[in-house]
Amino acid sequence: MPGLVVVGAQWGDEGKGKVTDLLAERADVVIRYQGGNNAGHTIVRDGEVYKFHLIPSGILYPGRRCLIGNGVVVDPKVITEEIAALHARGIDTSGLKISANAHVIMPYHRLLDDEGEMKLGKLQIGTTRRGIGPCYADKAARLGIRMQDLLDEKILRQKIYAALEPKRLTLRPYAKDPALDLHAMTEEYRTLGHRLEQYIADTSKIVWEALDSDRLVIFEGAQGTLLDIDHGTYPFVTSSNPVAGAACVGAGVGPKDIDAIWGVMKAYSTRVGSGPFPSELHDELGDRIREAGGEFGTTTGRPRRCGWLDLVALRYAIRLNSLTGIAITKLDALTGIDPLGVAVRYLGPDGVSFDEFPYHQSVVHKARAELVELPGWSEPITGARTLGDLPPEARGYLDFVADRLGVPVVLVGVGPDRDQVITTGAAPDLLPAQPAESRAAAS
Ligand code: IMP
Repeated sequence: MPGLVVVGAQWGDEGKGKVTDLLAERADVVIRYQGGNNAGHTIVRDGEVYKFHLIPSGILYPGRRCLIGNGVVVDPKVITEEIAALHARGIDTSGLKISANAHVIMPYHRLLDDEGEMKLGKLQIGTTRRGIGPCYADKAARLGIRMQDLLDEKILRQKIYAALEPKRLTLRPYAKDPALDLHAMTEEYRTLGHRLEQYIADTSKIVWEALDSDRLVIFEGAQGTLLDIDHGTYPFVTSSNPVAGAACVGAGVGPKDIDAIWGVMKAYSTRVGSGPFPSELHDELGDRIREAGGEFGTTTGRPRRCGWLDLVALRYAIRLNSLTGIAITKLDALTGIDPLGVAVRYLGPDGVSFDEFPYHQSVVHKARAELVELPGWSEPITGARTLGDLPPEARGYLDFVADRLGVPVVLVGVGPDRDQVITTGAAPDLLPAQPAESRAAAS
């Protein structure tokens, strides 16, 4: 099984980093295929916390090839800082490579992101203000700067000039900002390019070679299906395609190279930023889940909106991504809540009910979730390592979800640490029956 996509099945922050990190034990290559440093993942290993925004999960395995694909937008300052932070902790980054075709987030992209949000006022999207949207917009307008451009001063200056010209009017308030001076910017980004040169490569070729030798390649998605620019809750979405199909474009492989697609979902739902969220909890139960799940953004620190698990949205994600397996994370955050709600249907504004995710945004915005109540459990489950260790109610919850979604559960997360997972045995070739650390502890 050489090609496996790990995709967010909800609104991002599902715990994809942890799942990818587990899979990376057996993989040769991990490649990110879209998004940028709007993403953030936390990996807890041996009690040590690592936070990444751009660096693919898997970097903690010595020598693992961790690639940033052409579909990612790269802020060279952020990646330089992440590399330095890893070096400071003694972690080898020689396996890291960045696609020469990946687009670069420039200072004006960040300013335009800020400006855009400010101008939208109440209608703002709630972006991470990292310049993601403006960078993808320049890519589509063919005004983007690519990683390879950072290696050639003349080309870099020309391209920055061409990119700045049509933005002059919008950027007028920043006309005197030294960060936008053409020569200073060219100099600064050329220097960053020089520092990053050793990492710039043809990542698509590296992936192809690994696949050709039958090695496992993980395509690591960022954000989630409902934030997809085509299929998500537009315009309250990100500016790339997190869905699994985009792994091919964003990494530079053909569809036949994908053999399995895992959707990662939390045992409940969260969303950051604005936009519809039919199963959102506006009461103290939402606050309780936020506290129990530590639902505060890795990138912006914003409190995440919390709600019940939404099977309507998840069925949509299964369809859009052709999911072959589901990883359910943070089941432990539901401990002590009884009963547990699960959204099985939406009720539209005029009393019409929807089994399928409605295509019309006005309906989604006004939809209310119709809930089924399931019994909760009160025993702590953070020590569970097999399905049999879980209380019957927790097993019942998982069975209900798997049954309604019709896709096997491959993994269940019961705590933040790497070994706090239950592998169900549904993917024996990809996941050890127990993660490495608990095997070591047991022997
Ligand atoms: P942008 O990607 O910064 O343009 O933000 C667009 C929308 O996507 C906002 O609602 C953000 O909160 C959301 N978003 C972007 N990245 C993430 C992520 O990694 N997790 C969750 N939400 C995200």
